[in-house]
Amino acid sequence: MKTDYLDLVQFHASPSQQTLETHGALEAAQALKQAGKVRFIGMSSTLPNLLDHVEMGVFDVFQIPYSAVEREHESVISAASEAGAGIVIRGGAAKGAPSEGKQAGTQWERWQQVDLDDLLEDMTSMAFILRFTFSHPDMDTNIVGTINPAHLQDNINVLLKGPLPQDVYTEAKRRLDAVGLRPQT
Ligand SMILES: NC(=O)c1ccc[n+]([C@@H]2O[C@H](COP(=O)([O-])OP(=O)(O)OC[C@H]3O[C@@H](n4cnc5c(N)ncnc54)[C@H](OP(=O)(O)O)[C@@H]3O)[C@@H](O)[C@H]2O)c1
Repeated sequence: MKTDYLDLVQFHASPSQQTLETHGALEAAQALKQAGKVRFIGMSSTLPNLLDHVEMGVFDVFQIPYSAVEREHESVISAASEAGAGIVIRGGAAKGAPSEGKQAGTQWERWQQVDLDDLLEDMTSMAFILRFTFSHPDMDTNIVGTINPAHLQDNINVLLKGPLPQDVYTEAKRRLDAVGLRPQT
């Protein structure tokens, strides 16, 4: 990789505080940070362990799943950000749902539960999903997965349009709440 250090090393799969302590994983990461081999330590985290991870005060970054159809972590994202951590969103394109050819899985089933069509105006469903994710005031970056260069360009164009208009964002959240797609805590 032609580098003497890694900017960010993230733990995978949201291990509990006890698991981290039992295996000494955090101490090992902190030693690497101390030695200048790693600049920041992150945790790919989900509820319920995310609450402990924030409380531990040792993680610089949290990677958290979030989109319009996966709002469970919406509030705790803000809590983690207020505690000083950087927020990396994953699943922020709702894993491709409801785009052409990917209309399957939990995200697609949830998208079908809510009628947002009149809010889309000139946006595609994917543009709406991405702009909803970007509208979260406490997210810092959204690591959208794509192997399609045209999708990458589309996503950059969407990003340049910025967050959703406030009235559209508020109304979308109201309708998502109404069908049970709401923050968990
Ligand atoms: N820490 C963890 O446990 C964990 C778990 C899962 C993922 N991740 C990380 O998070 C990243 C993102 O997560 P993810 O890939 O699961 O979810 P995602 O970014 O929400 O969705 C990726 C899917 O969206 C599609 N997509 C992206 N842009 C599109 C567009 N403009 N139009 C149509 N489809 C579009 C992609 O298909 P195309 O390729 O066809 O564009 C792909 O199928 C991954 O790259 C991975 O590094 C981490």
